[in-house]
Amino acid sequence: MIRLSIPVIEDDDLDAVRGVLETGYLVQGRHVAEFEAAVADVAGTRHAVAVSSGTAALHVALLALGVAPGDAVATAAYSWIATANVIELCGARPLFVDVDPTTGNMSSAALERALEHTSVRAVMPVHAFGLMADMDAVNSLAAVHHIPVVEDAACALGATWSGRRAGAAHNPGGMGCFSFHPRKAVTTGEGGMVVTDDDALADAARQLRNHGQTGGTTVEFVRPGFNYRMTDFQAALGVTQLAKLDRVIAARREAAARYHGLFRGTPITPPAEPAQAQSVYQSYVVGLPDGLRNTDVVPAMRDRGVETTIGTWHMPLAAYYRDRYGHREGDFPSTDAVFVRSLTLPLYPGITPGQQEEVAAALVACVEAAAAAAGRP
Ligand SMILES: Cc1ncc(COP(=O)(O)O)c(C=O)c1O
Repeated sequence: MIRLSIPVIEDDDLDAVRGVLETGYLVQGRHVAEFEAAVADVAGTRHAVAVSSGTAALHVALLALGVAPGDAVATAAYSWIATANVIELCGARPLFVDVDPTTGNMSSAALERALEHTSVRAVMPVHAFGLMADMDAVNSLAAVHHIPVVEDAACALGATWSGRRAGAAHNPGGMGCFSFHPRKAVTTGEGGMVVTDDDALADAARQLRNHGQTGGTTVEFVRPGFNYRMTDFQAALGVTQLAKLDRVIAARREAAARYHGLFRGTPITPPAEPAQAQSVYQSYVVGLPDGLRNTDVVPAMRDRGVETTIGTWHMPLAAYYRDRYGHREGDFPSTDAVFVRSLTLPLYPGITPGQQEEVAAALVACVEAAAAAAGRP
């Protein structure tokens, strides 16, 4: 079976984790501080606050901004469900914004319309599959409405838009959130990071991850908080992983370019990469031809020895959000289409050109078989 994703774990990663385990000091130590400094450097922000997952990073970021019951947070309709859940868990309402059908990222025109009609506390664009949303448009719309931007950059460490790095939300109150889940370019198993230039937001995030405790020599608990801390051995792994980031991104981009070539002249649509963007291809997500559903193609590809999966989720139509807010098919037409036609293919630094050829051939064969079965040419 050609696997969807395999993290790059090398000897230096194993040594780093073992080194921390051998000290017996496992939580929130010097490796966390070192990892935070290294991520801040990559993101180009003044602060980075390590937490236990990307979901925790998003939750902490929204709470640090003061998102509370009665607020609305505008976010892309197409994302992993954590994006909507953290808004709901703050007691706020996700204001879902339809996506651009070619990129799967928040549509700027739809965001503009959403901001005209509703009072929104924050905008949370999602950089789907490592491709940044149109941050020129998102930042300028947010600035017009004086709303902070929280980037869900879970998949996008190292990506850029107009030369600006993912996570470094360039507007007042801006924050960015990363995930270090094993399907991301840099992994700590589970793990996340909040980045920001804002001192007060960084302080709030540090308190929220650690029971509301202030920093410094005197312990005081100034707000209710969580245990969202990252362990020191995960952070040590993060440091060695981060040192490979450029190499990993280059390998992912090279493999993506090879797929682009393999799909030229076929009915498969490769992922878009607008001129302003440098995607890190956290996932390589193609568009299937009309009439084919990704959920039918996944088992057919498995039968041909290739692990694939859908792109990501249509959050407004997930049971909870559909029932709570009455969303229906047709409310977000581009998300409806992208949700059904997107398929994620195997992509990781160690994938060989031969394996990629096998994947492409299997997918084209599946599409042809489905077309023949449906009586299409
Ligand atoms: C877009 C997006 N947001 C948030 C998350 C949540 O990150 P984590 O799994 O680290 O909690 C993910 C995880 O895959 C994601 O893809």
